[in-house]
Amino acid sequence: MKNLLFIGDVVGKSGCDFLAEKFPQIKRKYNIDIAVVNAENSARGNGLSKVSAESVINAGADVITTGNHAFRQMKDLDIYNRDYILRPANYPDGCTGKGVCLLDMGAYSVAVINIMGTAFLEPIDNPFNKMDEILKEIHTKNIFVDFHAEATSEKKAMGYYLSGRVSGVFGTHTHVQTADETIIKNHTAYITDAGMTGVEESCLGVSVWSAVERMRFHMPVKFSEAEGACFLCGVVVEFDEKTGKSHKIQRIIIR
Ligand SMILES: [Fe+2]
Ligand SMILES: [Fe+2]
Repeated sequence: MKNLLFIGDVVGKSGCDFLAEKFPQIKRKYNIDIAVVNAENSARGNGLSKVSAESVINAGADVITTGNHAFRQMKDLDIYNRDYILRPANYPDGCTGKGVCLLDMGAYSVAVINIMGTAFLEPIDNPFNKMDEILKEIHTKNIFVDFHAEATSEKKAMGYYLSGRVSGVFGTHTHVQTADETIIKNHTAYITDAGMTGVEESCLGVSVWSAVERMRFHMPVKFSEAEGACFLCGVVVEFDEKTGKSHKIQRIIIR
């Protein structure tokens, strides 16, 4: 049995610092073999930068996934040339980067796939068809998917669509952890959203009052990063690396 840690959207410098602070104790407590971290909001001003990617990797992530904010830091787009930094796989062909990564763990291997929903998000390629295409090319049974999507219905649909075919489907993007973690068909670990890592008293990581102002007055307001005590949200999944079946998923929230 092996343990995979998946951490939801790390927001800003405070989120990166909190991840680095808490990672060693999580790794020890849950005996983590592989860590995947969504870091699409880790850079200052959103997106993923060289600096924030280094910080998340140095904290202990093996693979970084992203989402609709992947390309926000235009000066740092070459970080997507690194094997372990992903953007959603269903961006059109020819787009910078890739959405699949294969980790060689010695006696076994693990594939991580980053894919994005299209409900209330950009109309990129159909994520269901894209997953079928990708799975044809993957030759390990240990496959974990970060499905970055807005609609809970689309995430549920993807969880069931991939059940029995992948070891785990974890939703990201809403920054709010859901309480529906489960193992589908005795095989696939699933949660609609893993949650976020960053300042807890915030609107998805943004300072409360800048968010309130934008929603109250419908005028453009510059979002600022929230300040205060952080929390870290994610899941730990125990899987059998010989069969690719997940046996246990547990949510974690560390304050
Ligand atoms: Fe996000
Ligand atoms: Fe997002």
